[in-house]
Amino acid sequence: MADIASELSTACGQAFEAIGLEAKLGMVRRSDRPDLADFQCNGAMAAAKAARRNPREIAGELVEKLSGHPAIADITVAGPGFLNIKVTEELLAGRVQGVRESEFAGADQSADTKTIVIDFGGPNVAKPMHVGHLRSAVIGDTLKRLCRFLGHTVIGDAHLGDWGLQMGQLIVGLSEEQPDLPYFDVGNEGPFPAESPVTIEDLARLYPLASGKSKSDEAYRELCQKATAELQAGRAGYRALLKHFIDVSVKALKVDYDRLNVSFDLWKGESDADPFVAPMVTDLKDRGIAEESDGAWIIRVARDTDKGKTEMPPFILVNSRGGVGYHTTDLATIFDRAQNIKPDTMLYVVDQRQALHFQQVFRASEKAGYFPEAGLEHIGFGTVNGDDGKPFKTRDGGTVRLSDLNRMALEEAEKRISEANLSDDLSEEEVRDIGLKIALAATRFSDLQNTRTTDYKFDLERFTSFEGKTGPYLLYAAVRIKALLRRAKGEGNAAGAIRIVSDTERKLAMQMDGFNTALEQAFEKRMPHFLCEHIYNLAQAFSAFYAAHPIAAEKDAELRASRLGLCEAVLNQLETGLDILGIKTPERM
Ligand code: ARG
Repeated sequence: MADIASELSTACGQAFEAIGLEAKLGMVRRSDRPDLADFQCNGAMAAAKAARRNPREIAGELVEKLSGHPAIADITVAGPGFLNIKVTEELLAGRVQGVRESEFAGADQSADTKTIVIDFGGPNVAKPMHVGHLRSAVIGDTLKRLCRFLGHTVIGDAHLGDWGLQMGQLIVGLSEEQPDLPYFDVGNEGPFPAESPVTIEDLARLYPLASGKSKSDEAYRELCQKATAELQAGRAGYRALLKHFIDVSVKALKVDYDRLNVSFDLWKGESDADPFVAPMVTDLKDRGIAEESDGAWIIRVARDTDKGKTEMPPFILVNSRGGVGYHTTDLATIFDRAQNIKPDTMLYVVDQRQALHFQQVFRASEKAGYFPEAGLEHIGFGTVNGDDGKPFKTRDGGTVRLSDLNRMALEEAEKRISEANLSDDLSEEEVRDIGLKIALAATRFSDLQNTRTTDYKFDLERFTSFEGKTGPYLLYAAVRIKALLRRAKGEGNAAGAIRIVSDTERKLAMQMDGFNTALEQAFEKRMPHFLCEHIYNLAQAFSAFYAAHPIAAEKDAELRASRLGLCEAVLNQLETGLDILGIKTPERM
């Protein structure tokens, strides 16, 4: 269902054509003065300039052509030649009815559907996730839901960090604790035990131990580097260990991601790019795209058009020790996806601080002809800060684990539930479920509502509040509508034909009509906050409507049925929007 503005644009465009002017001048948008009009068209001014005519005169002719249009209740010329348009109640009622009945709550599906890979989450095996990984997970998962909602085919890939020095550190750490394991026998080609020799707790203990030691002890560091190189070169025992490390980590990660309602289609990692690295390096050398420089192989990615900026450093394909790193695995992953998924676009939802890395990778991909740079997008985001304005840390300065963050959010949500005496007549199970949903709404919405690229301050007390621009406030709005509809149903009252009579009803209907535009903006800019903004304003418009009118208690049967219909439409759009944000609404609260 196209929105009203585009429907009016078509009508205005025809009016412009009818008086011998260009149709595109008829672009209609929301009025800057909602107290005076619903929509406005400024085309007469532009037309007047070109045609050297008086804009008010042109506007007058347009009014004549458009008066009587079934969507238009009132059209007037204002100021130097604006058209002010008020739409009919019937039009708005029809729109609301559409929102109420539609599976997409009044939104359009995309006409031009694409296959999109979204690379998000990006957790590292053994290294604890930090709050930046939270942002990637929540933003990436939301973009995935949004793209799917619009009809695109999406493949979400976690792209695990499972190929770097931390793997060598784990191997060395483990070999010191359990030197007799078969994985460490030189020349042992396997098979190796199917059972993992380590648990996630072991990894959480071993990694900081080994990484600390490799910082202070040079000989130890060399051991770790050697183990990493041997792993990458294919030593069978180490590869078998890697597989255990990955499996154990993924299992633990899924628990944390589940809490955030985040899921992936693929759990591939840097290590999965390995089979593509050698043929890719050969190809790039053969075609002269990679060149030798001080014993390393590089791809020059600086461009003349970069002038004025500091020159972009080259892409290191193979370092002088013969090793490959993060750049090369990312390029090989593009190579893999281009061949095997054949997407139109790849989105990388990763911390803004990796912007240079992705620029280099994307340019290298373009230069190599693997995948066009125009289809590769780095979706960067700002940092989550603590009270001190620096990246959020635990009280003792450590990284905040995602699991701790989830636990803290749930505790805070439970505190809110007991403060509000919500749990009085609910079962323990239901209270737990509501707590989880409040925590989910709080965490996701407080992240998503910010312009993606800005930093924000982590403040659980604010995030879990039932008031203000928060996830729980939106849940509260949805639950209030559900309760109201249940009550009406219990009294034998059903929704019926919708009429838009009062001012708050009109505003609510106009708000619902903005859903499509909000989704389009969120998709085009890859910015979920446009959708957050829409949903929040919808909840606000509903609140005003709710405060202004009796609904279930309305005496007039037709009015009551109409208002119940409005409530159903709002609930449908609210829940649809929240679902795209990955937020679940409880039945009561
Ligand atoms: N593991 C990386 C990190 O923790 C993020 C990976 C992002 N994705 C990618 N294809 N580079 O910083």
